[in-house]
Amino acid sequence: MGSTGSIGTQTVEVINKHPKLFQVVGLAANSRFDLLLQQIKKFQPKMVCIGQGASGHPAIDELKAPFKLVRGPRGLKQLASLAGADMVVNALVGSAGLDPTLAAINAGHDVALANKETLVAGGQLVMRAVKRKKVRLLPIDSEHAALHQCLEGRDPSTVKNLILTASGGPFRSHSAKQLHSVQAQHALNHPTWSMGRKVSIDSATLMNKGLEMIEAHYLFGIPPERIKVVIHPESIIHSMVEFNDGSIIAQLSTPDMRLPIQYALTYPSRLPSLVKDCRLDELGQLTFHKPDKMTFRCLDLAYRAIESNGIMPAVMNAANEIAVESFLNGRIGFLDIPAVIQKTMGKFAAGGKISLDKILAADSRARDTAREIINAIIKMKDRR
Ligand SMILES: NC(=O)c1ccc[n+]([C@@H]2O[C@H](COP(=O)([O-])OP(=O)(O)OC[C@H]3O[C@@H](n4cnc5c(N)ncnc54)[C@H](OP(=O)(O)O)[C@@H]3O)[C@@H](O)[C@H]2O)c1
Repeated sequence: MGSTGSIGTQTVEVINKHPKLFQVVGLAANSRFDLLLQQIKKFQPKMVCIGQGASGHPAIDELKAPFKLVRGPRGLKQLASLAGADMVVNALVGSAGLDPTLAAINAGHDVALANKETLVAGGQLVMRAVKRKKVRLLPIDSEHAALHQCLEGRDPSTVKNLILTASGGPFRSHSAKQLHSVQAQHALNHPTWSMGRKVSIDSATLMNKGLEMIEAHYLFGIPPERIKVVIHPESIIHSMVEFNDGSIIAQLSTPDMRLPIQYALTYPSRLPSLVKDCRLDELGQLTFHKPDKMTFRCLDLAYRAIESNGIMPAVMNAANEIAVESFLNGRIGFLDIPAVIQKTMGKFAAGGKISLDKILAADSRARDTAREIINAIIKMKDRR
């Protein structure tokens, strides 16, 4: 799911590297229809799902091949539960990935999850379903793949802290004053990773690290206060685990998402990959420093959301998706992103029991609230 995106196309590269190991039985994409057509021709899947973004494409009539064509959110759930699949790779963007993830788990499929918003919005539900259905949930995020490797075979009671590394994004040394005037094209220019548009902005605001902290909390069962963040601009150490005796175990590699993708797809085997060797002698030095939480406020908002629990992480995530979209469209400034999220969270009550319906309702209400706040910000700026 999301086969035409940054993670999706790199997943295809990993599959092409090991053609005897994998058979692609389903594909889903939204707007990059020409690329989807190429993938359909190559893999001849049993089912294809297209989103709203494909409607009206002149080549849509070409989709008469012998596969089942499904559409929209319902189609994604059908695809995710396709009989005969062993694993679903979820490389969708945004909380739209939650329902299909649950569908895949409930159908008994293992899930390789890039779509971190799934765990942020519905982590409790997803982890409960994983336990109930006894399936594997393997993270496709370099940090969580690293933590998974560092934790493998260790006694959980000996873990002191998880340490997530963050590149710091393109504005890592900017002051709040400098951030006032940054534009989307600057934020999309990431120093060490080439990613989709939404996650690139999340990386620039440090919300990406906040989402990852929540993702790590659910995946590894470690409380948020024991998940630390350190800025590591070279992106060579992908994350670390600190143990009770003071040892820190880290996973290092050249920054390349094809490694965590392959690790998830072939786990527990380790096979030769497309990733360049990591030559530490050529790198020379690795550096670390504390994140500037005063300037990059999204990180603390994520800690606040998970501490409030209930629907709050879903509210925060939805507000972030709307704020990022508005920033990408040039409607609001970079520093408006945390302001929109904080104001939206302020309109919702903390805690409470959750269900899928409650999460989806909160997600939808939070999107409306964030849009209202954005309209008010724009009006205020126009008046000045
Ligand atoms: N990129 C990275 O390096 C990276 C690293 C770690 C984690 N992640 C996470 O992985 C996820 C995907 O990120 P990305 O960078 O790959 O995003 P992306 O490049 O924007 O790709 C998103 C994919 O989802 C598809 N899609 C969106 N809405 C859809 C719908 N309604 N129905 C079917 N398909 C739909 C898109 O289709 P079209 O392209 O056809 O529109 C595209 O294939 C995000 O949660 C991100 O945080 C990404």
